[in-house]
Amino acid sequence: MVGKMSILVTGGAGYLGSHTVLTLLQAGHSVVVLDNFSNSSAVVLSRIAQLAGRAPTFVRGDVRDGACLRNLFLKYPIQAVMHFAGLKSVAESARQPLNYYLNNVSGTLQLCQAMAEFGIYRLVFSSSATVYGDSNEMPLSEDSPTGVPTNPYGRSKLMVEELLQDLADAEGRWGIAVLRYFNPVGAHKSGFIGDDPNGTPNNLLPYISQVAVGRLKALQLFGNDYPTPDGTGVRDYIHVLDLAAGHLCALEAVGRRSGLSTWNLGTGRGYSVLEVISAFERACGRKVDFVIVPRREGDVAQCWADPGKAFRELGWRAERGLDEMMADAWRWQLTNPDGYKESGV
Ligand code: NAD
Ligand code: UFG
Repeated sequence: MVGKMSILVTGGAGYLGSHTVLTLLQAGHSVVVLDNFSNSSAVVLSRIAQLAGRAPTFVRGDVRDGACLRNLFLKYPIQAVMHFAGLKSVAESARQPLNYYLNNVSGTLQLCQAMAEFGIYRLVFSSSATVYGDSNEMPLSEDSPTGVPTNPYGRSKLMVEELLQDLADAEGRWGIAVLRYFNPVGAHKSGFIGDDPNGTPNNLLPYISQVAVGRLKALQLFGNDYPTPDGTGVRDYIHVLDLAAGHLCALEAVGRRSGLSTWNLGTGRGYSVLEVISAFERACGRKVDFVIVPRREGDVAQCWADPGKAFRELGWRAERGLDEMMADAWRWQLTNPDGYKESGV
């Protein structure tokens, strides 16, 4: 166990960042959140404070803004950084590639440069299983070859992984964790914080939740002709709080070891879209209407993790099952039908 630290969480107001900030505060760390609210709102920060009994320090700013980062590092004695800030829509990335490279790649470069100037060399980075591309070999281990991403979002994640490797090779003081997330879902048990995507959701769980709560009509199920047991896409869904716990373990590890290490954060178990719909229906006691439509471009048939390396090296494994993920996602949706909007906090 590392001592209590002062940690910068970029993108800490977002879905994954907010749950991780809460977990860090509950573990006794001091947290500074840097976020530009491009995909989040201030409400989440007061919700975190309610749950943790104390608030994270908040700096409104952009990771692409070097001056803002330097002021932050001058003001707060940051020892490690968790870097969640970035854009994450696959479809949007194809329409706005420049924006994705600027936020995801340039943002990370600015951050690393400012960190190095201030002698901060511990970094935990949010990568994605998307870097594996379309593989027939399941489960995916960290040794599986990275593929050829089909979109600018995926390419931006792979580019950042590569530039971080160059950094670690060039300067032995860096301790970098690259965490490849599989499909994070669910919410904190309180129903106070959760996933609140802007506009119509791209991802399965927020879409299903909004159908169940009556905000959207029917789920479009993208393809039932995949070479999977029931023909629908198979993914490794992981509870957001298990993911957050994985970050704490990775933080400790980058304090012990230098260089760059890559860990999958997944459960090791895949579920099909139809299985997820059934589990959600059990959790909410309602029917989730869906229509089968053609496959979505760029989707792989199946994707699940070998989480063994994270267990061996970090002592971390996901503990929550699919039913708990669905129940928690539903509680969040039911108590916040419009997300954080128009919330009385
Ligand atoms: P999110 O959009 O909810 O959170 C990202 C946060 O970063 C938001 O609060 C946004 O306002 C902020 N942000 C974006 N650009 C910024 C910038 N330039 N400067 C400062 N703040 C900025 O997304 P999330 O689901 O919490 O994802 C967090 C990270 O994890 C992202 O890097 C994403 O690519 C990665 N990831 C997410 C998933 C997933 O399914 N959610 C899967 C794999 C990887
Ligand atoms: N799906 C539907 N209908 C929808 C949304 C999704 O049928 O409206 C299906 C997809 O075809 C897929 C499964 O539900 O089979 C999961 O889809 P998501 O969009 O929730 O998740 P993805 O696996 O496509 O994408 C996630 C992250 C990306 C990341 C990718 C690979 O959202 O950021 O995993 O790691 F790039």
